[in-house]
Amino acid sequence: MGKKLFIETLGCAMNSRDSEHMIAELTEKESYEVTDEFENADLILINTCSVREKPVHKLFSELGVFNKKKKPGAKIGVCGCTASHLGEEIIKKAPYVNFVLGARNVSKISEVLHKDKAVEIDINYDESEFAFKDFRSSGYKAYINISIGCDKSCTFCIVPKTRGDEVSIPDTLIINEAQKAVDSGAKEIFLLGQNVNNYGRRFSGTHEKVNFTELLRRLSKIDGLERIRFTSPHPFHMDDEFIEEFANNPKICKSMHMPLQSGSTKILKDMKRGYSKEWFLNRAKKLRDMCPDVSISTDIIVAFPGESDADFEDTLDVLKEVRFEQLFSFKYSPRPETEAELFTNTVDPELASHRLTTLQSLHTEILDENNAKLLGNTYEVYFEELFQDGFVAGRSDNNIMVKTKGSEELLGKFRDVKITSIGRTVLTGEVIA
Ligand code: 5AD
Ligand code: SF4
Repeated sequence: MGKKLFIETLGCAMNSRDSEHMIAELTEKESYEVTDEFENADLILINTCSVREKPVHKLFSELGVFNKKKKPGAKIGVCGCTASHLGEEIIKKAPYVNFVLGARNVSKISEVLHKDKAVEIDINYDESEFAFKDFRSSGYKAYINISIGCDKSCTFCIVPKTRGDEVSIPDTLIINEAQKAVDSGAKEIFLLGQNVNNYGRRFSGTHEKVNFTELLRRLSKIDGLERIRFTSPHPFHMDDEFIEEFANNPKICKSMHMPLQSGSTKILKDMKRGYSKEWFLNRAKKLRDMCPDVSISTDIIVAFPGESDADFEDTLDVLKEVRFEQLFSFKYSPRPETEAELFTNTVDPELASHRLTTLQSLHTEILDENNAKLLGNTYEVYFEELFQDGFVAGRSDNNIMVKTKGSEELLGKFRDVKITSIGRTVLTGEVIA
């Protein structure tokens, strides 16, 4: 019987791809098979996120449960951003943990596995040209990393400390990965990076100058590749050339993530985001003018230190004007080793909760108004997921999740679907062609 691997993935899409890479390495080099039950596993991995404080607290209680109920002799490894950030401290606090592997050191998974109490968290380690083994959790959509790390210094964000400086992956390697995915049946690729539209600023070796817009052009030449998505772009780098390519290239899905963080120019300055309220509104307007069907999602942090009522009103203003199709909203959470951790003008926690609720309620109103207009529309849906009760789900080009009655026969296919009922996160429809 093969050895069994259980892996829990927290956080963002980059972490999901890192988990796929670790599974690939462990399956090929160490003959592991993935299991859904940690009680049966010979190796338990947690791929952690440290962007906010809550999941970090949860990590130690979860590790305790794993340790108590695991199979005798099973190993436990802590990977990802919290591993990079806490390093050895994890083993001090939870001595039964066998190894700690940072977000920037994923390629060393089979090495650390054989060194008890290994702590591999070198922040300068360069994996940008490492040839990972192949593994994809979906045959229909391929996640592809285009860069590692982040060069920005947003004052609230721990990521540059856990994922290090930004290095772009050579475009030839990215195109090769995309071609392989298409050859094995995927019609959609999802490009990943902390800051995708800063692509090409730094490569590990000498490399032809290729920016993100040019990378998109090159990828869209691949025959059989129908859809290109990406996350996350930075509003600061949304120049005209990028928005025009986004609007005019039919293979680029019309769904854009524009992380606002705050609508107040003063707070944006304190966050070191590099743009103003006006710049953000101008970019969103250009996008909506050029692409009337675009859906725009965003991330907003409320109650950043020094946020006044007027600053918060600026955020609500932007929400009302841009009418984001999707909102991810958070209360500010101070993070170690960030600049903002030292800011003393903190917002009262009750006021912070109140602001979060106000923001979310306003967004729900906008969403309900937006969604009501979608009834009766027809979308081309790429089906990727089997739901319960005889439903299959997929996404429209502009990222609306749609489900319909059907079976696995629809998976990997494009179909025109007419919307017959509206929900907040998923719409229901009938296949008409
Ligand atoms: N507090 C709250 N939210 C944060 N994010 C990043 N750092 C923090 C923090 N310290 C949010 C940002 C980012 C998203 C991934 O997480 O909105 O875009
Ligand atoms: Fe963090 Fe800013 Fe980099 Fe995003 S761009 S990962 S928020 S530092």
